[in-house]
Amino acid sequence: MVRVGGMRELAQRLHGLGTTIFAEMSALAVRTGSVNLGQGFPDTDGPDSLLDDAIAAIRGGANQYPPGRGIPALRRAVADHQRRFYQIEVDPDTQVLVTTGATEAIAAALLAYVEPGDEVIALEPYYDSYAACIAMAGGRRVPVTLRAPDFRLDLDELRAAVTDRTTVLLINSPHNPTGTVLTDEELRTIAALAVEHDLVVITDEVYEHLVFDGGRHLPLATYDGMAERTVSIGSAGKTFSVTGWKIGWVTGTPEVVTAVNTAKQFLTYTSGAPFQPAVAGALALGNEYFDELRFGLQARRDLLCDGLESLGFGVHRPQGTYFVTTDVRPLGYDDGVEFCRMLPERAGVVAIPHQVFYDNVEAGRPLVRWAFCKQPHVLEEALARLTKL
Ligand SMILES: Cc1ncc(COP(=O)(O)O)c(C=O)c1O
Repeated sequence: MVRVGGMRELAQRLHGLGTTIFAEMSALAVRTGSVNLGQGFPDTDGPDSLLDDAIAAIRGGANQYPPGRGIPALRRAVADHQRRFYQIEVDPDTQVLVTTGATEAIAAALLAYVEPGDEVIALEPYYDSYAACIAMAGGRRVPVTLRAPDFRLDLDELRAAVTDRTTVLLINSPHNPTGTVLTDEELRTIAALAVEHDLVVITDEVYEHLVFDGGRHLPLATYDGMAERTVSIGSAGKTFSVTGWKIGWVTGTPEVVTAVNTAKQFLTYTSGAPFQPAVAGALALGNEYFDELRFGLQARRDLLCDGLESLGFGVHRPQGTYFVTTDVRPLGYDDGVEFCRMLPERAGVVAIPHQVFYDNVEAGRPLVRWAFCKQPHVLEEALARLTKL
């Protein structure tokens, strides 16, 4: 046993996880007074009705533990949402589980389905909690790399990654950080592989309402053979611009939801009492809300992408999400981490290097992610500052 300063050392399975890049970069943003295009949170709040409903819920006494699976009104609203947008039928009592953000849903799903030593295939660059949660579940992550310039899923690479130790595919579409939205053909292949190898598929769909240019989000659970093997994950954070509320949900068969809840109930048991009724109301907002959210973000995507392009960055315009990826090599840099550490002091802007989201570091070395879920004047200020480069 290794002891450090009288304390037992960090458990082996957490080695290498360190501090999230977002904590480091957000602290750097505050210290340097930088415009923070690092972490993906909007700088405006969600719709007024949502905020008013949460305040009313607090005043109305919704301040104690809600039911472990979530309040009935929110479970019903999630079921209605799945039917309205995707024609998916789920029973709100047995097929919906409210979680503490998508983050808890991901953790609970991995803890529910991964045995120590199992291989979990995930698309890299990864959202950073994936690597940590696979490690905490005792699994081994196996990356399939989305490569620049188009960040498409290489279906042969995916097929080749499946072994007899693979038990779970962890899919994210729309994909953070690349902005890739998986196509019908890609999703069909994923589904066929999952059925052929009897895999559980955990699908992180938190950016489902942020698909641009007339594209559509297609949920994996709607593909042949997938309903019974898919853990579908959504979240209010991105859809209603309340990332700090941490209200997420899982949908799936009753067996899937019970399995995920077996882990979830001992992580937080429950959370967000006054936020749950508010999110239930927001999920029923009219189509104009969802359209405005998407069009507004698409316009801000274009503002930032056009600006970065005119500054000389190699810009990979995303199909969805909050993020644009750039290549910094045209500006004479070859390492995104060095670029992002230099940027706050040099230009007063914070961005996130892709590299930290890869096992295959070389694939992400020159790539940098910028969040455009900010007000236009903030994006303009960031672009003005970047002219100093
Ligand atoms: C791909 C992805 N999944 C999950 C999350 C976390 O969602 P939540 O805030 O609901 O926990 C994020 C947040 O950035 C994300 O980008």
